[in-house]
Amino acid sequence: MTTVAIEDGEEVRIIEQGVPPERFARGWHCLGLVKGFRDGKPHSVEAFGTKLVVFADSKGEVKILDAYCRHMGGDLSQGSIKGDSVACPFHDWRWGGNGKCTGIPYARRVPPLARTRGWQTMEKDELLFVWHDPEGNPPPQEVAIPEIRDPEAEWTEWTWKKIEIDTNCREIIDNVVDMAHFYYVHYGMPTYFKNIFEGHIAIQEQSGESREDVVEWEGPDVPRLLGNRSVAAYYGPSFMTDDLVYVYDRYEVESMLINCHYPVSPDKFVLMYGIAVKKTEQVPADIADQLMEAMIGYIGMGFEQDVEIWKNKTRIENPLLCSEDGPVYQLRRWYEQFYVDVADITPDMVDRFEFELDTTKPVEAWKAEVAENLARKAAEGATV
Ligand code: FES
Ligand SMILES: [Fe+2]
Repeated sequence: MTTVAIEDGEEVRIIEQGVPPERFARGWHCLGLVKGFRDGKPHSVEAFGTKLVVFADSKGEVKILDAYCRHMGGDLSQGSIKGDSVACPFHDWRWGGNGKCTGIPYARRVPPLARTRGWQTMEKDELLFVWHDPEGNPPPQEVAIPEIRDPEAEWTEWTWKKIEIDTNCREIIDNVVDMAHFYYVHYGMPTYFKNIFEGHIAIQEQSGESREDVVEWEGPDVPRLLGNRSVAAYYGPSFMTDDLVYVYDRYEVESMLINCHYPVSPDKFVLMYGIAVKKTEQVPADIADQLMEAMIGYIGMGFEQDVEIWKNKTRIENPLLCSEDGPVYQLRRWYEQFYVDVADITPDMVDRFEFELDTTKPVEAWKAEVAENLARKAAEGATV
């Protein structure tokens, strides 16, 4: 409900800040490249308001348990791997990947009920996922993460980055529908923008043109970036794949961008992003590697631009929208499905919803602004 106050006889919009939910979303959450967890050591991951230990057993299978040892609270992620178990640094109790205590070297027998919480894991395209469900149910088949990179094509390795962000993770979800910020925050110029939400999937289709007032073109030998096309999809609450094509004057570069996160607490999340570039005839391996380095640089800058906004903004439950804004309220209803019990999911959270933004007015305004910026730059250049 929108709140208003009266000042000089006029109604004033009041921000409802709300509070981030204490509960964490149900769904598959990516924890990053799986190979990082196969180095023979236990790893600590703070997530979902607790601490997890991630380790690979002797067969290389990655297991996840609660990090706090059920004996006297030691931190298993500070321990070591012994055989197929993780050994606690406090009194050497051993815990198997299924959560069962497998041994206590100084005890005559293991207490029969010695079991800690094991978390369900999944590997997909070199990435590790953990299933989180406050109700404790296993992941339904239909929410599985689909194939990420087209296996028929050749790709560069993933380049992967991670940043910790001190705000609630709904902020990053809002980006799915927020067309205008791509111009103002990320210096892009969306010319086509559409959202589709259905079931646990939220899609953003977008094409854009390069802004000549911000892109420095170095000369005729350097490929000139004309624009981009992207189809991004959240599969569940936190894992987005983005089929991203950069259109240059002489070729197109196809890439797969991952944007994913996991919550640490209601006010903190870990954002990760990764990119792989498709190798093609026009984009052979060495060029693909160079492009990937450059792209991870821009993309990182893009997230830093978002972070700068998030650091200073307030949470807002009742954004005041104009007709050129995307469907923020519908997106948040979609997102809500991951925060309620499965029995409480309502049709408005999961029914198909499609909305294409009319970009006529924004593009007109932005082109005029770009032209002004270029004219000013030219005039400044002429006077120097
Ligand atoms: S606290 Fe872990 S073995 Fe004692
Ligand atoms: Fe953004």
